[in-house]
Amino acid sequence: MTRYEEPKDRNLRYINNPTAGRIYSKVVGGQGSYSIDRGFITGLHKDYQDVLTNAAGDNMACRNRMIAHTREQGFEQFIDLGCGLPMKDDLPGILTPGWSDTTRLVCVDNDPIVVAHMIHRGYDLELPRQHFAVIDEDVYDPDAVLDRAATVVDFSRPVVVLANAVFHFLPPARPTVPDPADVVARYASALCPGSMIGITHATTDGLDPTGKTAEAARALAAEYAKTTHPAQLRTRAEIAQMFTTGELEITEHGLDYASAWGNPDVGELGRAPATSCFLAGLGVVRE
Ligand SMILES: C[S@@+](CC[C@H](N)C(=O)[O-])C[C@H]1O[C@@H](n2cnc3c(N)ncnc32)[C@H](O)[C@@H]1O
Repeated sequence: MTRYEEPKDRNLRYINNPTAGRIYSKVVGGQGSYSIDRGFITGLHKDYQDVLTNAAGDNMACRNRMIAHTREQGFEQFIDLGCGLPMKDDLPGILTPGWSDTTRLVCVDNDPIVVAHMIHRGYDLELPRQHFAVIDEDVYDPDAVLDRAATVVDFSRPVVVLANAVFHFLPPARPTVPDPADVVARYASALCPGSMIGITHATTDGLDPTGKTAEAARALAAEYAKTTHPAQLRTRAEIAQMFTTGELEITEHGLDYASAWGNPDVGELGRAPATSCFLAGLGVVRE
């Protein structure tokens, strides 16, 4: 798969502009954001800030339920696409207490500051270097990611690939940019049967299209054009396609709002699940 165009001054672009990972980290209480990222958030209209806070919080809680669910099923190998910055309950922190000889974790991100923080997270937790890797790659180049992940992950055993709040940073498909459904299918093709791919993705489907929340969500997505990670809302049908193009089959939780996915306490949200503006699904690689 061809990589889409990247400017030569790549690192400077991430240092001199707000980035998705650092904005998100600030919103959910993680580390590593800078004043440029915090300024992006405080500069947003209050309604857009509310959408961002709900979406980020619901995404993180949903991601944690996906991690808990797959760990309960005995999964020990994880590839975290668009891993984001360290935070209290991040994946390295969750896996560390039970880390065994067969645990593997690969974190992938294209923000060099996220990559630096995650490398040091691994040092701080003393994760074994041959079983933990942080890869500075574009998740839309699955061949490059999978190639590098293979130095750590045993692809003959089941793997969980997490793609939480990352595929909506893929621009609309064009000749040099793959369709996200094809990207997911390529990841699925590298995994043995029984492996899983978890996705959360921004959408306004399910909201009243003329209502305040949908309008704020569209405006917020447009604001991300000012960051290193312009955002794309996708329809439920487009997100569903990510689970049907390759060898995946959606699990019993279905494609649901991130706030509701696998959540027994959804009634406690105090608002409609769709207001998270995120859809979530977990697909299993077929036999
Ligand atoms: C909103 S954060 C989500 C972090 C984490 N996955 C979570 O759900 O808690 C999105 C992360 O994806 C990363 N990202 C966005 N586009 C990417 C790409 N094309 N390749 C690699 N990482 C990317 C960003 O740098 C950021 O750290």
